[in-house]
Amino acid sequence: MSTSVIILAAGKGTRMRSLLPKVLQPLAGRPLLAHVIETAKKIQADKILTIFGHGGKQVQQAFSQEQIQWVEQVEQLGTGHAVQMVLPVLAQDGMSLILSGDVPCVSVDTLQRLLDASSKTGIGIVTLTLDDASGYGRIVRDDGKIQAIVEHKDANQQQRQIQEINTGIYCVSNAKLHQWLPKLSNDNAQGEYYLTDIVAMALADGLEIASIQPQQAFEVEGINDRSQLAALERQFQLFQAKQLMQQGVHLIDPARFDLRGELKAGFDVCIDINVIIEGQCEFGDGVEIGAGCIIKNTKIAVGTKVKAYSIFEDAIVGEDAVIGPFARLRPGAVLSNQVHIGNFVEVKNSRVGLGSKANHFTYLGDAEIGENSNIGAGTITCNYDGANKYLTVIGNDAFIGSNSSLVAPVKIGNGATVGAGSVITHDVADQSLAFERAKQMTKENYQRPQKVKK
Ligand code: UD1
Ligand code: MG
Repeated sequence: MSTSVIILAAGKGTRMRSLLPKVLQPLAGRPLLAHVIETAKKIQADKILTIFGHGGKQVQQAFSQEQIQWVEQVEQLGTGHAVQMVLPVLAQDGMSLILSGDVPCVSVDTLQRLLDASSKTGIGIVTLTLDDASGYGRIVRDDGKIQAIVEHKDANQQQRQIQEINTGIYCVSNAKLHQWLPKLSNDNAQGEYYLTDIVAMALADGLEIASIQPQQAFEVEGINDRSQLAALERQFQLFQAKQLMQQGVHLIDPARFDLRGELKAGFDVCIDINVIIEGQCEFGDGVEIGAGCIIKNTKIAVGTKVKAYSIFEDAIVGEDAVIGPFARLRPGAVLSNQVHIGNFVEVKNSRVGLGSKANHFTYLGDAEIGENSNIGAGTITCNYDGANKYLTVIGNDAFIGSNSSLVAPVKIGNGATVGAGSVITHDVADQSLAFERAKQMTKENYQRPQKVKK
């Protein structure tokens, strides 16, 4: 049986008070709609139909890489009207899952159970029981069977006591959508075409309405304003944190951990507080991440320790390395095993070989460094002439004295030594010493200027 996913994403999101369309607001670093699309892809939908309206161009552009069919709803006349827009491109058979672009956390498990339940009846709904159900459409049951969904604004006093709500997530047979949707009317408190009115049509056709509940309430929480967005962000982060802990990650405080992407972690990875992990990251067994680190699209191998307040992006770090505190690895930093990178050291588009060290105040850009070399404090690879970038090559067992400038393109040989304070513009051969300094002057018994007391 074919499955389509229909995503309602035409609403403006007035309450966000934002220039960004609501479905592009970020949750865990990705647009709300991106979460929904990812889930749709995981259930292997044959077709993803997204209904757009407000901020249409911007929304489409944000997902130009995705296999999505876009359907425009020029005027937002209600949820039923929105789904009417897809009828011309909706298959005649199969089932459709109807989701909201502003309900980002619905799980594959919930949708799969909804699909299973709805396949038997032709229509199903995800419902939830809330302490405070005000504002939501209420599920009216008789003898346990769903009889109607009544919108809050249309509900009477008795119906407003009902705590079971419509989450706005449905699964309906395409044949029925084609049959029912053209018959919707907007004769209600809001003058809108309510998708929820298909419940009455299903009952009139003698169908029973299946319902399921999500495992976790936050799955079906919708976003209307920034407080809700922030609250859901925390809940989602806590959920991700728990998953990582179940996999053997030691989070010092799961309430102060943020994952904006995906983390594959081995056993006994330990992550201190206020760490942000972004994009696609992989940490091997025993990796330790100190407080306040921000790590994006980076692989860190077994046993490496990253000390506090280090920032990595698009980097690869080998085993048993020690990095930080306050280290910065920029795109293309590739560090071998047992490398040490210390405080205020920046590495960009550079390879550092096995066991080499740059422990203090250094810039390594466009460099290739061999094994067991020592880069002294304050070394700068001068890789840029204002227009072009050049390579610095440093061999194995080299020693670069403190406060040296290596003006690329330049090559420092194996076992070579550079004297402290040098500006090196010519290659240094293997095993040689190069230094470049003004001759030291000494004035004996020198009297410094004295302050005169007023
Ligand atoms: C809807 C349900 C309500 C349910 C609630 C759950 C109806 C009539 N009511 O109410 O039972 O409890 O969701 O959150 O369906 N949208 C469009 N085009 C439109 C109107 C809406 O694309 O013309 C989109 C919105 O962008 C949003 C979704 O549909 O993503 C839901 O619309 P919204 O206006 O929030 O519906 P509610 O009144 O909250
Ligand atoms: Mg709503």
